[in-house]
Amino acid sequence: MSVRRLADASVQPKEFSFTPDNLAWAKKQLEKYPEGRQASAVIPLLWRAQEQHGGWVSEAAIHYVADFLGMPHIRVLEVATFYTQFQLQPVGRAAHVQVCGTTPCMLRGSEAIRKVCQERIHREPFHVSADGKFSWEEVECLGACVNAPMVLIVNDTYEDLTPETFEKVLDSFDRGVPLKPGPQIDRQFSAPVGGATTLTDPEIYATSPKGGTPLTDARAKTPGAAANVREAAVPQPPVGDATGKKQ
Ligand code: FES
Repeated sequence: MSVRRLADASVQPKEFSFTPDNLAWAKKQLEKYPEGRQASAVIPLLWRAQEQHGGWVSEAAIHYVADFLGMPHIRVLEVATFYTQFQLQPVGRAAHVQVCGTTPCMLRGSEAIRKVCQERIHREPFHVSADGKFSWEEVECLGACVNAPMVLIVNDTYEDLTPETFEKVLDSFDRGVPLKPGPQIDRQFSAPVGGATTLTDPEIYATSPKGGTPLTDARAKTPGAAANVREAAVPQPPVGDATGKKQ
């Protein structure tokens, strides 16, 4: 695990403020929380600040978010330096690669993935490549161990990697057309490699109330889609509820 410090003063911008669109969005976020609990919006606001500022959080952005939420600067600094989704120094324009190096990924080849980063991006983590497009770091478990080894790039995970397929992922970011996230082998989500090994009897699905429609990847997350988008169906009020009652 690396030491997480703010970037050198020489690269810190003097000021930060949200764009009008982001400001309107941030004000809307505050409405989600009860009066006096607006500090709960600190992570989404920091994330939006990072997106606005080329993929990293400056000291000015930390102060801005703290003032916006009425929090002491040190409290927001604690959040920004604790969570590895926040980058504290400039990152590559095309992609900042977070390579998982925890045990399951290590046992399945993360060393080779890291070597690709060292050879293709920079020998050391947290350095931007010579062309300014890429940067990388090693992080702890990102929760996709079953598809190890894997990397996280902005919002998306790329899994079941080999050095060759990882190079292709980097190529796709270089071209500006990222490959589809998820497993980079013929595996559906985190299902067994080679196909299902249980519940394979078609009879089970013949009696399904949904008619046994097979799961497909067609509705899988697309590259770049925001990670904080609600993916579950939004509950609807019951038809003819109390809000429609007649006088
Ligand atoms: S160990 Fe790599 S995702 Fe969990």
